[in-house]
Amino acid sequence: MARIPDAFIDELLARTDIVEVVGLRVPLKKQGKEYSARCPFHDERSASFTVSPTKQFYHCFGCGAHGTALSFLMNYDRLEFLDAVEELAKRNGMEVPRETRQRNQSDDSRELYTALEASAKFFQRELEGSDKAKGYLDGRGVDAATRTLFGIGYAPDGFSALKDALGKDERRMKLLERGGMFSRNERGHVYDKFRDRIMFPIADRRGRTIAFGGRVLGKDDGPKYLNSPETTLFHKGRELYGLWQVRQSNQKIDKLVVVEGYMDVVSLFQFGVTYAVATLGTATTPDHAELLFRNAADVYFCFDGDAAGQRAGWRALESVLPRMKDGRQAFFLFLPQGEDPDTIVRKEGADGFSARLGQATPLSQFFFDELSKDINLGTLDGKARLAERARPLLAQIPEGAFGDLMRARLGEITGIGQASPSAAPTPAPVARPMRRAPSAGAQRMSLVRSAILRVLHAPALALDLPPPHPFADLRQPGIELLCELLDIVQGRPDITTGALLEHFAEREEVAALQKLALQDIPGDLETWRQELHDASLQLEKQTLAQRIDELLAKQRAQGLDETDKYELRELLKLRAG
Ligand code: UTP
Ligand code: MN
Repeated sequence: MARIPDAFIDELLARTDIVEVVGLRVPLKKQGKEYSARCPFHDERSASFTVSPTKQFYHCFGCGAHGTALSFLMNYDRLEFLDAVEELAKRNGMEVPRETRQRNQSDDSRELYTALEASAKFFQRELEGSDKAKGYLDGRGVDAATRTLFGIGYAPDGFSALKDALGKDERRMKLLERGGMFSRNERGHVYDKFRDRIMFPIADRRGRTIAFGGRVLGKDDGPKYLNSPETTLFHKGRELYGLWQVRQSNQKIDKLVVVEGYMDVVSLFQFGVTYAVATLGTATTPDHAELLFRNAADVYFCFDGDAAGQRAGWRALESVLPRMKDGRQAFFLFLPQGEDPDTIVRKEGADGFSARLGQATPLSQFFFDELSKDINLGTLDGKARLAERARPLLAQIPEGAFGDLMRARLGEITGIGQASPSAAPTPAPVARPMRRAPSAGAQRMSLVRSAILRVLHAPALALDLPPPHPFADLRQPGIELLCELLDIVQGRPDITTGALLEHFAEREEVAALQKLALQDIPGDLETWRQELHDASLQLEKQTLAQRIDELLAKQRAQGLDETDKYELRELLKLRAG
């Protein structure tokens, strides 16, 4: 992805009011210093969703959704990062730095989009003129509206139909070739890649054609489906066929169904299941999983009922595990032998198909069923085997209730980590995620924590504490994090709380930081400034004491050399003064 300088993002967020951005889309109610609403990212009756004007972030206490104005736009309007940046920049009359824009949509790739769009239009015109192709689609029961919605076309037979129609000059030829529309033989001769095939244009997230899938009409005519090769615009592991149409047809996407084929998506749509997408002849990749969950909280993976289907299901499970944040759910549906969603929905209609979805296997069940397939759980040995297989996978689940429940389930099945650990042959307890310390009140907050808390609430306070940090060497939990936070703000003086949290989005510290950011602290900016200053002095003293102790210990153990002695004298003077 093209990089936009952090400083620009910071300024953008500093000029944006998240309350305004969210308020335009979700009715907000003022409650004290913050605003609240029913969460737009999960179903709820109460208002667990809060937006903080001072910290410039939103947070849902129900589903854990959180982020800045930018991430709100990405999640709510389903924008890509760069598009969300453009959107906010436009609102604020700011220009996105040139360098990234150039790289993002150079004239070159704009021309490539145009060439592919022209190809799609050409195939659609050809379909109109071909009784054979129209007959094929009639025979498969694809109606006119669905053909239009998916831009289905026909690539005529012969080796140069597209080339003759669109490859008018050298430049256009080069573009079409870069777009994957041509093949080249050993002698360097260029000819149409798609010939005598029904053409399914593949749209990107903005509806632009970036590739094609082409299906043979007859039986034994090469591979059944031919896909565009990977190009600068098309990476099949990152695209989902039908996602554009799903997004066009639904205000809010509650669930997505992932199927295997183009025709499955098309037929499901025609019969009213307007939330199906297909991977493009590949297994579900991590990028797919991310994209799926960014669009819907519930994702159903639908596969053939055969062994290959089970394997594909497991691959899908592996790519979603690391993305199973709270609030997300994955299900697996295996169809009867010989059926696919296309045939099912034609026989059973949308209701029949969604009834099947209702019966789909939850991830947790599929997970333990698959792992224990060839294991005898009646034996201790079997239980240990299961635990061994499950642990590394469970470790990939992000911290949260879902992961806890999965580990608890493993405990139930195996008895390991449960009430009677002595029964287990491998007594190692099931790894638990680090528990967060109880919030203030129960225990006095450590100095480090209270410093972090203040920097989080008012990042600009960190500008009072430029590096080098006199407490950097202090061995206390959180010191490194504190120094890191201080350094980030030094480099990004405009950063908001929300953006600071975003910086840690992929790190394990994020959960703890989020909690701190949500905490209320008494006082105002000036009291916090004073408190941070005091904390810094205290920490510095502790660092001094730590070093003195070290030197004294060394003195006892092995004696001190001249530099050590000098240092100790200086430190003792410092402490006294
Ligand atoms: P299937 O062979 O299950 O076909 O391939 P299908 O989707 O049921 O197609 P119809 O109903 O016969 O038209 C599933 C998917 O696997 C990819 C395609 O994406 C296809 O939609 N595939 C299949 C290929 O890429 N190449 C092939 O030769 C076959
Ligand atoms: Mn099929």
